[in-house]
Amino acid sequence: MIRIPTNRRAFITGAGALAAGFALPRIARGATGPGKKPILLTARQGSARLLETADKHTPIWGYRGTAPGPLLRFKQGQELWVRLKNELPQPTTIHWHGIRIDNVMDGVAGLTQDAVPPGETFDYRFSAPDAGTFWYHPHNRSWEQLARGLYGALIVDEPDPPAVDQDIIVIADDWFLGDDGQIHEASLGSIRDRAHAGRLGNILTLNGKPRGIFPVVSGERIRLRLINSCNARILEFRFEQLKPLVIALDGQPVAPNVLNNETVRIAPAQRIDLAIDMTGPPGSTHAITEVSQSRLVAGEFVYDPKTTRALRGTPLTLPENSLPAPAEAHSKSVDLVMSGGAMGRMEKASYKGTDYEIRELVRRHGMVWAFNGIAGMGAKPLFTARRGESVAVRMVNDTRWPHAMHFHGHHFRETDGPWRDTLLIEPQETRKIGFVADNPGKWMIHCHMLEHQAGGMATWFEVT
Ligand code: C2O
Ligand code: CU
Repeated sequence: MIRIPTNRRAFITGAGALAAGFALPRIARGATGPGKKPILLTARQGSARLLETADKHTPIWGYRGTAPGPLLRFKQGQELWVRLKNELPQPTTIHWHGIRIDNVMDGVAGLTQDAVPPGETFDYRFSAPDAGTFWYHPHNRSWEQLARGLYGALIVDEPDPPAVDQDIIVIADDWFLGDDGQIHEASLGSIRDRAHAGRLGNILTLNGKPRGIFPVVSGERIRLRLINSCNARILEFRFEQLKPLVIALDGQPVAPNVLNNETVRIAPAQRIDLAIDMTGPPGSTHAITEVSQSRLVAGEFVYDPKTTRALRGTPLTLPENSLPAPAEAHSKSVDLVMSGGAMGRMEKASYKGTDYEIRELVRRHGMVWAFNGIAGMGAKPLFTARRGESVAVRMVNDTRWPHAMHFHGHHFRETDGPWRDTLLIEPQETRKIGFVADNPGKWMIHCHMLEHQAGGMATWFEVT
């Protein structure tokens, strides 16, 4: 029997056997050259086996009907050509998260394009300036469309990929299912989730499976690319006795460094690439556990019983992408103050040009958060920058909740910090980031906790 508590206090872990055969659905490589045919991604209904104990399948929405959708993989500088076909019952788009892309291809409904209506198609064609781990997902009703399973991995390979024995992509998602094993629809976009931590699931999957085996060989080196596709959950992974090194964050290489507290903490939309030397003996296992709530075995590395390989000595370093460094004396400084949410102090905010007292704003428009006193996308940008201008943004989290702040079209960094596209900012924390606004167009800034975004944590800037 499946039993799923809907209080969502604990993740479920069933008693079934581990699932083997774990890779992402693949599509042919090299089908993307100019003049060739587009890759067709149909967004449609499908089903997935999300529960370990059940033969039962859960209806989902997915690209080609699967969650995650097909792995898209191409070389740095090569062109990707994807044709989105919308067979969903509502309009959709695709956003290529983390790619420093042409603005018209950014996929933001209402800002860079109109959402694609049911039955219609839209062609995305772009090349990626940076090698690394990225992902794609809708940017229309994201809180619903991602919760239903629309997302996939987008990998841009280095011209000379560094030597590893396995390159493993892991997309982690939490799903909120009802007692019947179906996606809990009544709570989609609820005001409660908007005002608190967002929609937190009760089922954790890696690559769409409730638990899974990653076959490995003793002594080999793997590159593990972790992607958090949860609507709102900050995931925390541990790797038992293994000693992973962080080699990239949000697609951008960093000097290899060890984990804080031996834990990978990864906010929604963030990516972390790890280099792991598999030091267990042949025939043994190493659990991958998720510990944000309770200790849950999310998957397992299973060592081949016979084979071994000599450990590699030197650590893996990735070649840097070339990003423009912001000038020390920033020519433009902007403040972004977050307010609102449960237990917050926000009393009023403006929405679409009208000022509201907070209760009224929630009741009439479902808005519970604001940036600089403005809830939701305003008609005017937060700021305008000239192309090439250095911008500093001081983000003040004046709320009781953490937020995963994402900038479109640009990576940014704190002084001496790593390049990121999504930064987790803790309650009452202030973080100052800088970047060169070198990509013309209209770009969103929002919290990637998707219920927070829907509840008002969204704005945009323009590069002219
Ligand atoms: Cu991952 Cu505005 O997006
Ligand atoms: Cu948030």
